[in-house]
Amino acid sequence: MPERDHLTPISDRFHLYRAPERTRTASFADDVRIGLTAARKVLPPKYFYDELGSALFEAICVLPEYYLTRVEMQILERDAAEMIAALDGPIELVEFGSGSARKTRTLIAAALEAQARLDYHPIDISPAALVDSTASLVAEYDRLHVSAYASDYFDVLDSELLRTSQRVLALFLGSNIGNYAPTQARELLRAMSAAFKPGDALLLGADLKKDAAELELAYNDPTGVTASFNKNVLARINRDLGGHFDLDAFAHVSRYDAARGSVDSYLVAQRGCSVRIDAIDTTVRFAAAETIHTESSHKFDASDISALGTESGFRVARIWTDDAKRYAVSLLVIA
Ligand code: AVJ
Repeated sequence: MPERDHLTPISDRFHLYRAPERTRTASFADDVRIGLTAARKVLPPKYFYDELGSALFEAICVLPEYYLTRVEMQILERDAAEMIAALDGPIELVEFGSGSARKTRTLIAAALEAQARLDYHPIDISPAALVDSTASLVAEYDRLHVSAYASDYFDVLDSELLRTSQRVLALFLGSNIGNYAPTQARELLRAMSAAFKPGDALLLGADLKKDAAELELAYNDPTGVTASFNKNVLARINRDLGGHFDLDAFAHVSRYDAARGSVDSYLVAQRGCSVRIDAIDTTVRFAAAETIHTESSHKFDASDISALGTESGFRVARIWTDDAKRYAVSLLVIA
């Protein structure tokens, strides 16, 4: 069967691009091999989000301790109309990491108040999440047209796939930016500012720096959902790459490093062990207490946001926060 390198029509208002299965599995295998044979073991957080991982992340979002999703939603519900009005439209939306797209509805609804038709381009690493969320959006809004991309962000930004013609409002919500080390965050935002036109904008959701106890609780929930989410990356290696991890032999740990402004998550081997991974023909050895760094979740303040923006081709036009200043949604305009 030929591999699809184009947008396939699902319906007249919904087109889907799916990165070829073969390239997706190959990059997972490569990244696992590189990450687990490094001196300091590491796995990229984008591999959390297979079908089970995406469902576990949805569960995290309803945890009382994980305030990020709820607070961002409150800001969007309160200010979506203002956010849309800050740009001269008509606009089209490009979203990086749309996931369930629940929060995007506030902006879609606000845009459709202001214009007759809206084009929406969600990009997400999880095809399952993307197809589900998009199908229900198209059913709900009859003036919405969707071109969806199940792919890595950079692969879409570097390709000719993304075709926009109007004023673009790009969305990067959920504090997904937090998963990038400062250098990578700048690279990603630079790729975004290069892909769009002057006057186009990026709405960036970012969790704010705060008390360590509150941050650590958000990533160490007492019900253990976050621990399951973290361990799912090992389960996924078992499922997709013929791995032989014993999940009980690893513990979930998250700690806030205030100097770097990052909550860092690890899986810690509870005893020495050797783990065979068939698909990459590798046996990985773990010493007792050895860690796999699975995620960094960076936190920001207003000056971090403006530095990141100006170093990447944007200027900060506006920052919306909740009353308790836990979370910020910033409008960055391409200079
Ligand atoms: C989706 C990357 C924003 O870092 O807060 C939630 C993922 N990890 N709990 C975050 C996550 C553990 C989340 N992001």
